[in-house]
Amino acid sequence: MIVELGPGTGAFTAEIQRRLNGRGHHLAVEINPALASFLSDRHPKVDVVVDDAARLPELLRERGLDKADAIVSGLPWAAFSEETQTRLLDAVVAIMTPHTAFTTFAYSFAKRMRPAQRFRHRLHTTFEEVVVGRTVWGNLPPAFVYHVRRPRITEAGSAGA
Ligand SMILES: C[S@@+](CC[C@H](N)C(=O)[O-])C[C@H]1O[C@@H](n2cnc3c(N)ncnc32)[C@H](O)[C@@H]1O
Repeated sequence: MIVELGPGTGAFTAEIQRRLNGRGHHLAVEINPALASFLSDRHPKVDVVVDDAARLPELLRERGLDKADAIVSGLPWAAFSEETQTRLLDAVVAIMTPHTAFTTFAYSFAKRMRPAQRFRHRLHTTFEEVVVGRTVWGNLPPAFVYHVRRPRITEAGSAGA
């Protein structure tokens, strides 16, 4: 099962659907109702839900699902407060197994901004494996991808600070 967070206008959605080629469950969680409606019209095979990605564990439970095979995020992490980053990352960790691949992107221009650095630090303290992809200069604006796996086990059960 693939979980997509903040699909927006669906650039990642289309590529995920192409690669799934009719297989598997593709759940897309979008907080903006207008974008979600646009997306479900465009991609009828995608299970689009209008909700906060922080509710991921409940959303999976409601569908009789538990953990994701892959999580693809379009969420703007650098625009979030520390509290929101923690809430969302806790929800992501809760639906991961040691084999789940978590992929998320960041804009290169924002790399040195405090919330972006806080997020990067948070990734390193929360996960055993964080691989930073090359800058994709052809993207507007240029961006790069974090390839993340294996949540660390913490006593508090919360994304490591
Ligand atoms: C940068 S855009 C997504 C870019 C996307 N790849 C595209 O093709 O449009 C971020 C999206 O995350 C959504 N979003 C922001 N906070 C969210 C949350 N807590 N839960 C779910 N979606 C959220 C926004 O509504 C927006 O559509």
